[in-house]
Amino acid sequence: MNDDIERVLYSQADIAEACGRLGKQLTADYQDKVPVVISVLSGAVFFTTDVLRQMEVYTQIDFIDVSSYNGGTHSSGEVRLVTDISQDVSGRDVLIIEDIVDTGRTLKFIIDLLKDRHAKSVKVCTLLDKPAGRVLEAKADYVGFVVPDEFVVGYGLDYKGEYRNLPYVGVLKPKIYVNK
Ligand code: XMP
Ligand code: MG
Repeated sequence: MNDDIERVLYSQADIAEACGRLGKQLTADYQDKVPVVISVLSGAVFFTTDVLRQMEVYTQIDFIDVSSYNGGTHSSGEVRLVTDISQDVSGRDVLIIEDIVDTGRTLKFIIDLLKDRHAKSVKVCTLLDKPAGRVLEAKADYVGFVVPDEFVVGYGLDYKGEYRNLPYVGVLKPKIYVNK
């Protein structure tokens, strides 16, 4: 698996440091609230568990699964709800946890859904932000790293469902797209 990686962008230590930094900010900003934390499956699960353990606030965790990539390296353009959250977010402060904001389609879809359901506030914490990929306006409030315009895998991020369990974020060798 490691042989398929061209270069490591963010090491385990880099990620731990980012989780600590974001956790401090979130702790300060949500001190007097009990947010519903919505983790976007499956990519954000690794980041969610690490950043939440650095957030010293009462929270409730929920999960949403939306799909737009069909397992490849490019967004299909259409976002579809695969598995909904189980809580009522009406009147609640909501914090979305994402692995990466690329075109912005996924994030906009989820934010619109939560606003339709009358969430009191909706904020976004993402490990990675790839502004070069943006097609729709979508802004994250808390960002771990701003990434270059390359397809990245690891620490939750996948290519065809694989590589999520790499402990770091890296750039996949282009030959993998061709041969796999
Ligand atoms: P959009 O384009 O909707 O993308 O902002 C959000 C979702 O698409 C996946 N995604 C990626 N996954 N490497 C990945 O492994 C990437 O470079 C990448 N870009 C987007 C990701 O699941 C994210 O939640
Ligand atoms: Mg995702």
